[in-house]
Amino acid sequence: MQSNPSVVVYGAYGHTGGFVVSELQRRGWTPILSGRDAAKLDALATEYPELEMRPASVDDAPALDRALQGAAAVINCAGPFASTSGPVIEAALRARIPYLDVAAEIEANIDTFALYADPAREAGVVVVHAMAFYGGLGDLLATAAMGDWTSADEISIAYGLDSWLPTTGTLVAGQVSRQRRDGRRVVFGDGKISYVTGAAPVVEWNFPAPLGRQQAVSEFTMADTVTISRHIQVPEIRSYMTLAAVKDLTDPSQKAPTASDASGRSSQTFVVEVIARRGGEERRAVASGRDIYAFTAPLVVEALARVVGGQVKTPGVLTAGEAFDARDFLASLSPGHLSFDIR
Ligand SMILES: NC(=O)c1ccc[n+]([C@@H]2O[C@H](COP(=O)([O-])OP(=O)(O)OC[C@H]3O[C@@H](n4cnc5c(N)ncnc54)[C@H](OP(=O)(O)O)[C@@H]3O)[C@@H](O)[C@H]2O)c1
Repeated sequence: MQSNPSVVVYGAYGHTGGFVVSELQRRGWTPILSGRDAAKLDALATEYPELEMRPASVDDAPALDRALQGAAAVINCAGPFASTSGPVIEAALRARIPYLDVAAEIEANIDTFALYADPAREAGVVVVHAMAFYGGLGDLLATAAMGDWTSADEISIAYGLDSWLPTTGTLVAGQVSRQRRDGRRVVFGDGKISYVTGAAPVVEWNFPAPLGRQQAVSEFTMADTVTISRHIQVPEIRSYMTLAAVKDLTDPSQKAPTASDASGRSSQTFVVEVIARRGGEERRAVASGRDIYAFTAPLVVEALARVVGGQVKTPGVLTAGEAFDARDFLASLSPGHLSFDIR
């Protein structure tokens, strides 16, 4: 790998984009800061006087082409991805460079696989989609838990968040998804996504210590359902989210996450437990860490390093579990960013 190759961060001035820029620098890459708002990019110049700013809006293909010129890859952190992933993927395909994103909008995730799998394969470009806390981590844990199983009867994913102070991007992505769902909820059963009405059931989930037994909303379907079902044969995927986090997310007076230390991370903690069941046998993977937004940065930057380093041989639109050796990938994030256990 050449020294300090440059990587475009689209949505660089967003909350998650900021963590990605810092992580890229920490690992010796040179971020190129991009996004649709030139003034917001300029405001970053005081923090990053040495970095190049390349404004581009998603409806301006020539500007996106200029933004990606000479870069080794692009990481898209600008959501709603229903609006941004198509144009930025198309620019990456024209530039013939890898594309990674942190998308967590179920319908947009499905569209991205459907629309860009063939064009990316034909262009010989690796697209790693939903390479984030939602969409990436659960998929890696499910893939690692499965081990040598090629199919399972059921996969359960339980998200144990002690709180969830959402960013504006999360709230807007949620609004976009809700509009598409017209008041319905997403579930995964009989091997496919479907929509149901009525309130999701609340159950008890026994998370590993220190969280322990918690009330959890079941059928809290997230992007991991889309990514896991892309490559693991499993008819039932059940998702659970701590009730406390759901209450935070839907509280209209809720504030955005704030830094609790010099790294910018909030004090939020997470534990994600994935259980794969086949017949009477269960395989389990558990991971814990801090701040789902900040954690997304080491996840996507590690993926970038592996893609640009040539470890992913198959072009196309891939999930984390498809693209990488899941156990090795999780191990690379531990101990600095993640604790995990596979049984
Ligand atoms: N999968 C996961 O676990 C995960 C983790 C973190 C983030 N995310 C997703 O990443 C996205 C960003 O989250 P965030 O926390 O960084 O939120 P944020 O701080 O509100 O940042 C949102 C970013 O998206 C940009 N943006 C919005 N609409 C755009 C458009 N049409 N064209 C170009 N840029 C646009 C914003 O630019 P302006 O300021 O110019 O509007 C801003 O840079 C959200 O969709 C969120 O759901 C997912």
